[in-house]
Amino acid sequence: MQNRRDWLKSMIALGATMPLATVLAQELMAAPVSKAERIHGITSPLEKHLIRLGSNENPYGPSEKARKAIIESIVEGNRYAHGMARELRDFIAEKEGVAPEYVLMGAGSSELLCLAGMTVGLEGGAVLSAYPTFRLLMDYAAKFNARWDKVNLDANLTHDLEAMASAVKSDTKMIFVVNPNNPTGTVLNADKLKSYCIEMAKKAVVFVDEAYIEFLEPSERRSMIELVKEGRNVIVSRTFSKIYGLAGMRVGYLIAKPDILKNMGERQVWGNSNQAGIAAAKASYGDEEFMSFTRKKNAEARAHLFKYLDSKKLPYGKSQANVVLFPAPKDGKYILEQTEKKGFQIRVWDYDDKEWCRVSIGTLEEMKKFTKAFDEVIA
Ligand SMILES: Cc1ncc(COP(=O)(O)O)c(C=O)c1O
Repeated sequence: MQNRRDWLKSMIALGATMPLATVLAQELMAAPVSKAERIHGITSPLEKHLIRLGSNENPYGPSEKARKAIIESIVEGNRYAHGMARELRDFIAEKEGVAPEYVLMGAGSSELLCLAGMTVGLEGGAVLSAYPTFRLLMDYAAKFNARWDKVNLDANLTHDLEAMASAVKSDTKMIFVVNPNNPTGTVLNADKLKSYCIEMAKKAVVFVDEAYIEFLEPSERRSMIELVKEGRNVIVSRTFSKIYGLAGMRVGYLIAKPDILKNMGERQVWGNSNQAGIAAAKASYGDEEFMSFTRKKNAEARAHLFKYLDSKKLPYGKSQANVVLFPAPKDGKYILEQTEKKGFQIRVWDYDDKEWCRVSIGTLEEMKKFTKAFDEVIA
């Protein structure tokens, strides 16, 4: 009998990429990122009624506008959503200042990261990224036999762009940069990132994942979409899952030149959009009032966690998003077990021969409960 791995391999050999997309995405999104998680397992927060500090979700969403739009969209629930999906794509294209062919919509940005990873694998070559970072694209590429070259973050837990420039090889086909990064929330200097992208895009496609960019104040925010408009080999991904609080609605998009998007679009599963998600995304896009509310609340709750970590003399990446990474003060498996017993879901990562705790920012009340519980765990 074929085991799962053989089955995956034979599917790849047959070029049957569509059914694979769903199976692999599920497998990889829930994949452990440390030995501690492999032993302990990843508990569903729903099953044990845990406070969710494990997936960088927005505890305040969806916004009122999005909720209203979702309810109003219900009457269209009997209709296929492709017409509406096209309208949303055109709407986003107009807002981002590009032609509609520059936009590829997905069921969350995960779907698009998977398509990008799959494309590198199927077309041959390697993908380069910092480590640790959001690994779905590279894990997906690796399933399709691409090599993943990793470059450690610097001492401030920020992307080391110089080292990432030196690590480019002749077969590097894609360079993946997450800004702000997950799991650290750290942000790159926009000018440095821009110069890096311009230079690297001469050698490979640079994929900039901007899932958390709206956590920066509008005056500090600089998207690399400007490089796409200049005609460079850059892909930018965005999602409605984070600041807009629509993770369960599954809407994300890529902005890139049509020749870059073509192969990814052709490998996409048909019928991946839904009326409620489209309505919620359209009602949410650019809602500065809700974004600024979330940013303010998130900053207060994050400051509480920073203060706690400072009091324990635990170093951490200077997160500007809704996630913080710090060295695990005790055995990672023990921390996972004990924080879960006290009602919280967090993540433990392996990096640089050490264990690290990754904690998403919940409400201030949740963070107060969490720091109290965590303090008891590590006492
Ligand atoms: C950096 C980054 N990119 C993409 C995603 C995927 O999000 P979604 O598929 O909900 O758009 C995540 C989710 O945590 C993320 O952290």
